[in-house]
Amino acid sequence: MEVCALAEQYFTPSPTSAHERRTVRYRMRDGRELVFETDAGVFSKGRVDRGTRELIKAVTLDDGESFLDLGCGWGPVGISVAVSCPRSEVWMVDVNERACELARANAQANGVRNAAVLCGDGLAAVGGQKFDVIATNPPIRAGKAVVYRLVEEARDHLNPGGRFYAVARTKQGAGSLREFIHATFGNSDEPEIGGGYRVIRATR
Ligand SMILES: C[S@@+](CC[C@H](N)C(=O)[O-])C[C@H]1O[C@@H](n2cnc3c(N)ncnc32)[C@H](O)[C@@H]1O
Repeated sequence: MEVCALAEQYFTPSPTSAHERRTVRYRMRDGRELVFETDAGVFSKGRVDRGTRELIKAVTLDDGESFLDLGCGWGPVGISVAVSCPRSEVWMVDVNERACELARANAQANGVRNAAVLCGDGLAAVGGQKFDVIATNPPIRAGKAVVYRLVEEARDHLNPGGRFYAVARTKQGAGSLREFIHATFGNSDEPEIGGGYRVIRATR
């Protein structure tokens, strides 16, 4: 009988794959360099993903506005924002415990004092807290039901006038994701399109 081993997905809550630590460097637009530790069992362990780069480019917030990185992985989005906006409170959540541990260590290693990392499914870990800006590079591989639920939870955790950003690959359903976001918020636009990715923005 043939036995098919299922590969561990990056959204597994408790990864068991053997550790494979790596260091990833990322230069922000203002020239500052961030250094991250990554590992097996998390999303994009070898580099800052191209979609993530497009998302970081597109997100704008005033220093002091609160920010949530939904599905933070090892932390490139939330930590970039926390470094750029030192007066903002930054929250980072992920279902993957290994990703959360890396994000916590990466925030500390990059001198970030205004970010907290919480582990849990969707927005459950933040309770009734609301944010001015929420951004996500969503877990497309987890399927539409998960991604669409995260979009709805994000809408419900935004302050009035708050902005939601999501990035998706043009060839991996960015069109249908935009339609869903538009239907959920009643508005949408695309502040960034590049490298085969589209960043979708909506306002509550
Ligand atoms: C495409 S990755 C993006 C990671 C990181 N933001 C980046 O850009 O490198 C999506 C992330 O969402 C997380 N995720 C998947 N399902 C989730 C859920 N139900 N609740 C919270 N996070 C989830 C995954 O573990 C993964 O880290």
